[in-house]
Amino acid sequence: MRESKIIDFTILGSSSRSVLVECSSGEAKKLASRCGGIFKVARICGSDLQTLSKEIPLPDDSKFNWTVSGYGCSSEILESMKDAVSTALKNASLGKARFIHPETGAAEIELQLSELIKNVLSDGEGKRSKGLDIIADCSQGTVHFGFTEFTSNLSGLRERDLSRPYKDPTVTLGPRLARTLANLCALRPGSTVLDPFCGLGTILQEALMLGYNALGAEISSTEATRCRENLEWLRKRFQISPKLWSRVIRKDAFDLQTSDLPKIDAVVTEPILMPLLERNPTAGDSEKLIHETSEKYSKAFETFSRILEPGGLVSIVAPQLVDDRGKAHSFDLVTIAEAFGFRLVQPKESGVQNPCSVLTSKRKIIQRRVYLLELR
Ligand SMILES: C[S@@+](CC[C@H](N)C(=O)[O-])C[C@H]1O[C@@H](n2cnc3c(N)ncnc32)[C@H](O)[C@@H]1O
Repeated sequence: MRESKIIDFTILGSSSRSVLVECSSGEAKKLASRCGGIFKVARICGSDLQTLSKEIPLPDDSKFNWTVSGYGCSSEILESMKDAVSTALKNASLGKARFIHPETGAAEIELQLSELIKNVLSDGEGKRSKGLDIIADCSQGTVHFGFTEFTSNLSGLRERDLSRPYKDPTVTLGPRLARTLANLCALRPGSTVLDPFCGLGTILQEALMLGYNALGAEISSTEATRCRENLEWLRKRFQISPKLWSRVIRKDAFDLQTSDLPKIDAVVTEPILMPLLERNPTAGDSEKLIHETSEKYSKAFETFSRILEPGGLVSIVAPQLVDDRGKAHSFDLVTIAEAFGFRLVQPKESGVQNPCSVLTSKRKIIQRRVYLLELR
């Protein structure tokens, strides 16, 4: 979201499902290696099918699977793309390659990422060789044709979520969102990230993975101990550089003082100081809970303003409650933060939204919004 000084890229446009980025292939790999979420990265060949047919990287023999993906495109565009690729494969004597039908969604047609990796892109032992995912993206107004080059590392994210010594999905966010939050700050390697409500340390884990020093504060001594064990496990399993340090202190976040801390470059956190709810609350209860939560966020921003220097960043998740009639209730986090000297970091000319909502199913009681703010 933030203009990065460490990777050279320009965002040309974005929609809720895709971002069009101009950069070299090496920078694209660097960019993708830092992003959270579940995504694939496609190389754009152009807006005509002839160029696409010439540029798709054809495998040596026909023992591969291929599929097509469409984002905001008409079925005619997708069909003509499929025909053009089919002809190109036949012309190259690769007509026996197997076509895998994508699934049909509202505005996109694609295989689920895990299915795409397993059935098309995988070149694992005993499988058909690495295949092709040909894409058409119409979300920027004109059609762009291309092919998927690589995807997010689903197995690494899954391992950090499920194989660490302590996990509890009811209180912690997943590594995909944690990585997104830490990455949004676009800090230089070796910078220091603080999660003042660190829980089991998911955010700290992803901060270390991105090359940052990780400092956590946690009010519960049990959670603080578990967090230390999780970080120890991560350091060994993912060979984190010994130059990066990680530390967890047992402390009430609201009592943190600059004298307790090294220089903090960014606070990255999801405090969600809300009770666990089993069902959607009434509108009245939702308003009450949101009000109580907003007061805690206000206290948190007062603390952040004390422990950050001007230019210091806060990448934070704030909750939205969905009541028993499906109506969303939230508080105005920007006004709260502004009262303590923060401003919302507006990405330049990219069309990317700040805050942005994290897509969750409609039934979720608590939904999330992600904000990036800077101390003036
Ligand atoms: C939503 S969890 C945080 C999850 C965490 N960010 C992660 O990456 O796994 C909130 C955590 O904040 C802790 N907490 C609540 N109030 C606190 C306070 N005043 N100071 C420090 N930690 C607090 C809770 O014990 C809980 O572990």
